[in-house]
Amino acid sequence: MACRGLLLGLLAVTCFIALASAESALQDFCVADLTSPVIVNGFVCKDPKLVEANDFFFTGLQIPGNTSNAFGSSLTPVTVSQLPGVNTLGIALGRFDYAPGGVIPPHTHPRATEIFTVIEGTIEAGFVTSNPANQLFKKVLQKGDVFVFPQGLVHFHRNVGQGHAAALVGFNSQNPGLIIIPPNVFGSEPLIPTEVLTKSFQVSNSVVAEIESKF
Ligand SMILES: *[C@@H]1O[C@H](CO)[C@@H](O)[C@H](O)[C@H]1NC(C)=O
Repeated sequence: MACRGLLLGLLAVTCFIALASAESALQDFCVADLTSPVIVNGFVCKDPKLVEANDFFFTGLQIPGNTSNAFGSSLTPVTVSQLPGVNTLGIALGRFDYAPGGVIPPHTHPRATEIFTVIEGTIEAGFVTSNPANQLFKKVLQKGDVFVFPQGLVHFHRNVGQGHAAALVGFNSQNPGLIIIPPNVFGSEPLIPTEVLTKSFQVSNSVVAEIESKF
């Protein structure tokens, strides 16, 4: 009896793993139904009979983003939220724009590696490793240069040229996620306890308060 129970348990575990990580697509596509109230890991599929060409179409990536903000930069994402046809396909795209001196602050994509290419200007880009700990890999990139940010690692970009700069990026997830470290750590709702931040960054309450006031 105990053995039979164990076997059933193992089968259940195997079954769950198979469902959770189907390696290959089981259908041509699963266009995201962004309005469905059903919560799954990702988005449920729109009825294939209702799918149309526009579900696989996005326009506007030729338009520079608005960089009139504190960071002097902007991101135009083309992920499952903007392009429902990429649901379950494990890809997404984006465009970055930078005013002179503009930065994309240190950030991470929890679910994707990013491949990055400069289409205009000169951009310094880098990421910091976890193993070995805290090693910076950084390059100055010109138009046509390509750099890769491995999944989950904290990275940044900065326009180091004279004029506007822009880059196109690809992700190996339809929903890469974006955690921008400064507002994530200093602008959460509610705030991380001040005692945690003063101790962690080895600064005073007033320094933490000043940074928090920016976000
Ligand atoms: C860019 O953003 C700024 C700040 O939000 C806004 O004042 C300005 O009108 C925007 N410019 C364009 C062209 O949309």
